[in-house]
Amino acid sequence: MERSGIAMGIVYLEKERLFKLDTPHTTYIIGIVGEEGFLGHAYYGKTIKDAQGASALMRIYENPFTPDTNARDRLSFMDCFPTEYSGHGVGDYRESSIRVTTKGGYNAVSLAYVSHEIYKGKRKLPGLPATFGSEEEVTTLAIVCEDKAIGLTAVLEYSVFETVDAIARSARILNDSKEAVVLNKVMSGCLDMDNRDFEVITLHGSWARERHMERKQLGHGKFLVSSLRGEGGHQEHQFMALLDKHATQTTGDVYGFHLVYSGNFRMLAEVNQFDSVRVMGGIEPEGFRWLLKPGESFQSPEMIYAYSSQGLGGMSRTFHDLYRNHLIRSPYKDQKRPILINNWEATYFDFDEQKLLDIAKEASKLGIEMLVMDDGWFGNRFDDNRALGDWQVNEEKLKGGLKKLVDGVNVLGMKFGIWFEPEMVSPESKLYREHPDWAIAIPGRTPGLARNQYVLDISRKEVRDYILEMMFKVLHSANISYVKWDMNRPLSDLGSACLQAENQGELYHRYVLGMYEMQERLLAEFPDLLLENCSGGGARFDPGMLYYSPQIWCSDDTDAIERLQIQEGTALIYPLSAMGAHVSVCPNHTVGRNTPFETRGYVALAGTFGYELDITKLTDEDKAMVKLQTAMYHKFNDLVREGDYYRIASYRENHLYDCFQVVSKDKKRSLVFYVQVLNEANKKSRILKLQGLEEGLTYTVKELDMNVADSEDMVKDMQKAFSGELLMNAGLHFERMWGDFRAKVIVLEA
Ligand code: DGJ
Repeated sequence: MERSGIAMGIVYLEKERLFKLDTPHTTYIIGIVGEEGFLGHAYYGKTIKDAQGASALMRIYENPFTPDTNARDRLSFMDCFPTEYSGHGVGDYRESSIRVTTKGGYNAVSLAYVSHEIYKGKRKLPGLPATFGSEEEVTTLAIVCEDKAIGLTAVLEYSVFETVDAIARSARILNDSKEAVVLNKVMSGCLDMDNRDFEVITLHGSWARERHMERKQLGHGKFLVSSLRGEGGHQEHQFMALLDKHATQTTGDVYGFHLVYSGNFRMLAEVNQFDSVRVMGGIEPEGFRWLLKPGESFQSPEMIYAYSSQGLGGMSRTFHDLYRNHLIRSPYKDQKRPILINNWEATYFDFDEQKLLDIAKEASKLGIEMLVMDDGWFGNRFDDNRALGDWQVNEEKLKGGLKKLVDGVNVLGMKFGIWFEPEMVSPESKLYREHPDWAIAIPGRTPGLARNQYVLDISRKEVRDYILEMMFKVLHSANISYVKWDMNRPLSDLGSACLQAENQGELYHRYVLGMYEMQERLLAEFPDLLLENCSGGGARFDPGMLYYSPQIWCSDDTDAIERLQIQEGTALIYPLSAMGAHVSVCPNHTVGRNTPFETRGYVALAGTFGYELDITKLTDEDKAMVKLQTAMYHKFNDLVREGDYYRIASYRENHLYDCFQVVSKDKKRSLVFYVQVLNEANKKSRILKLQGLEEGLTYTVKELDMNVADSEDMVKDMQKAFSGELLMNAGLHFERMWGDFRAKVIVLEA
């Protein structure tokens, strides 16, 4: 998408009582309606320079009119008015944005406009990850609404970005009354618009099969995806997009919604009797109950809206730019990350310091830059049945201690990284024996185990302090550059030994706040640390975690072909620079498939790039290829990390091949990734239309070749050059390759 749109900002058109929010290519219009100050939604879509008359889009001049002109039909009005933050129990029968229980036991709530403020920049959300930007980059509108009957105020905040077509929304609820109120539901954002026969895309999955795209027709009634696992989970994702029936990667209207939160969530679309669609996102209300005492406030997480008139690709690039520039804070976000080798698939729990040094020694010769020691280095962790919580080095395994090992790795010219699972405790551990009440549990009910572990109650400060202290001790004891923060089971049996009965419903959210606080403190203590989040693969691949770590482990499935779908779904919203991707051994440990080493390298190149195998056991031929691949990473990672992503073809859709492209911001360089998953007999070669290039530029075509002796010869000039116009309108030619699972990377240079 071009970035040359009109200047963005937020204006209040006083006469019409309209707020107009502009990003470079989109406009969002909110109206204040009637004497009561109903806050309505008028428009979200392509830029509208002159918003005059936009109030009509809320249909307030048609029957049933606003209640101040037609009190007898108030409910009809309430149930069809397009609202910015829906109430509950007073006539809007669609999904509510907020639900409360007052001291008297009443649930009704309805918020009306009181005042507003427009300011440069963006406030932090206390305790929560959120997008950010300077006063030059972001403008924010804060609308104060009130329910006078209860004495409850909601501050609805909308931030627009100078160079990105995204809007960030959140809600802060304040109790101005003299009595406590229970919040049963506080959603982050609500959007009402006409249903234009929309389809919906969500990301569905399972362990080792995360974020597969699913597209279907939206019908009447409610459609939702949610999590009750205490994390986003492998199963559903805190994302939803509504799109034109015929929208493609390059054409059509797409509305993407993403929640910056790592706990229970609900993303919902409801089509009602009048064919309006209401989209909503926020903390899952089931299992949520927050006591708000007089004077207290509750902050919702942030929900991102991204509208694209240029199909799914436009939406993807908006999310990528937003997250790269306004969400990821790590100093590594604009840097090449060290190429790592992780010992998990190489050894699982069966390793000692010598084995790790052997791996490091071989890896260092081939250009690998960091050894990551995964699960199994602490307590008596000889398998996954014990020792979580005992974060002391097992010197039976690491003879001579951690520092000796790290120094040994550093001497080889490599950095060192380490794995933790800080939120967990094994029943068979010193920690659990000493503090059984630190595990989340309900008195009188034995909590369920998963991978033989319990979840620590990190809503408690003393628990967080204790765990962090142990971690800091380990991290200060040696020269450690990287931490992999894992989480291998969902929450269940919610109960905290420290919360009063009336506060137990706060535990899910307090847990997430506790985890965020721990990561914040870890980074404050070690500002240069490269943090990678992980949750049994990719169950916590979410925008909230990106605020703390610039990369997240994408999936435990490292098979290159399985990864095509996982990485396609992930790249729909996340920049490639955030996707943890490694080359692993064959037959693959999850699916048993054999794929060429070259293909595995190319698929991992489209992420953070690293290895997850016993490099000492590779053939000389594969080792030679590792050397080329590490050189390849250094040549192309800048482009992969910083470029624009274009999806050309999807193996998920065609079941035969996959193709995507990264294009530098100045459009002078591009990498085209092509994977021929299955070969077919007697078929023509393929011609695929490329995207994102400059029509008038001439691009030379080069191809990566991994069958050379020296990395200098790796980029082969094909002695061909084509105009951007030809490559995008006619296409680039891909010859058939012999066999299945074959891949090619084309380099275009203008
Ligand atoms: C799950 C992670 O996804 C793996 O990479 C590995 O770290 C294991 N946990 C270790 O238990």
